[in-house]
Amino acid sequence: MFTPSRSVSLTQYLIETQRGRQLISAELRLLLEVVARACKRISYAVGKGALTGILGEAGNTNVQGEAQKKLDVIANEVLLEANAWGGHLAAMASEEMDGPYPIPDRYPRGEFLLLFDPLDGSSNIDVNVSIGTIFSVLRMPEAGAVPRIEHFLQPGRAQLAAGYAVYGPSTLLVLTVGAGAACFTLDRETGSWWLTQDRMTVPRSTREFAINASNARHWEPPVRRYIDELLAGASGPRGADFNMRWVASMVADVHRVLTRGGIFMYPRDARDALRPGRLRLMYEANPMGLLVEQAGGAASTGMGSILEVQPASLHQRVPVILGSTEEVERLEAYHRESGQQLT
Ligand code: AHG
Ligand code: MN
Ligand code: MN
Repeated sequence: MFTPSRSVSLTQYLIETQRGRQLISAELRLLLEVVARACKRISYAVGKGALTGILGEAGNTNVQGEAQKKLDVIANEVLLEANAWGGHLAAMASEEMDGPYPIPDRYPRGEFLLLFDPLDGSSNIDVNVSIGTIFSVLRMPEAGAVPRIEHFLQPGRAQLAAGYAVYGPSTLLVLTVGAGAACFTLDRETGSWWLTQDRMTVPRSTREFAINASNARHWEPPVRRYIDELLAGASGPRGADFNMRWVASMVADVHRVLTRGGIFMYPRDARDALRPGRLRLMYEANPMGLLVEQAGGAASTGMGSILEVQPASLHQRVPVILGSTEEVERLEAYHRESGQQLT
């Protein structure tokens, strides 16, 4: 008979991480619990779908020039509201806001900065495919100061915690505080998160890849070479058949990689010289990169670790190649061999 694993709740996991391994403070624990609570609220909104009129366009454009969906706006507001008053944050930043959102003066300001992609996979909202939320936690480098953009511009290596929620057949929360990546499943009836996988591990090798192949004509030579070799299958240079998956929600694609391995790519392409890649460094690539590294995988721009990139702006884009180490290293080697100088 199937026995669900219900022994460790999110709260217990965080308290034990705080008390035993002393990896997090009480303030950081509060922050993570508040983010988890906000994700739960977003999950309930997602679950209601058309019944509460949350589908469709919001009628606005965000700072990225992308049309906002109603759920992009709702999820952003849920995260802002949940995190404003607890005293644990100095400021927040989001895909859906031009600049930092300082904690209002009527509330105490704390020592952390929270960055998020409130709703990842927006093109999948209206077609009932898995979507999610991605978040990253940094320390406010100048205690007590009025938060500025420069305070956020820290490399991914400086993250104190990172995670994502997936609103799929189950609602999951995957989290790292520097002690591996742990997965919690939401019991939608009781509203509790339960640890369902500790120490997620990305296998070193894989036969599965994820890339939006409709961009193939824009790819750079090392990416073309790599994908051509995979597509050539058993009779090609790799001597093996590879399978392809592309959900078009980074949370769902990366969750598959964290669960059973694979390589996920949104590489630099030639569509727009001002946009080196599609995904945003600070609230997509960095948190996912840290989670994948914590699970034993690798996260690269093609030229080096994503987590070493020094951000120049809040909404900066970056090439993303992450997952099973052997494949990420192979594609990095192809970049080196091509003599590319870009970072
Ligand atoms: P967002 O919905 O937050 O803007 O992010 C969408 C991202 C990411 O989730 C996904 O991997 C990628 O965009 C999908 O891009 P394509 O539309 O090119 O497939
Ligand atoms: Mn996104
Ligand atoms: Mn988004």
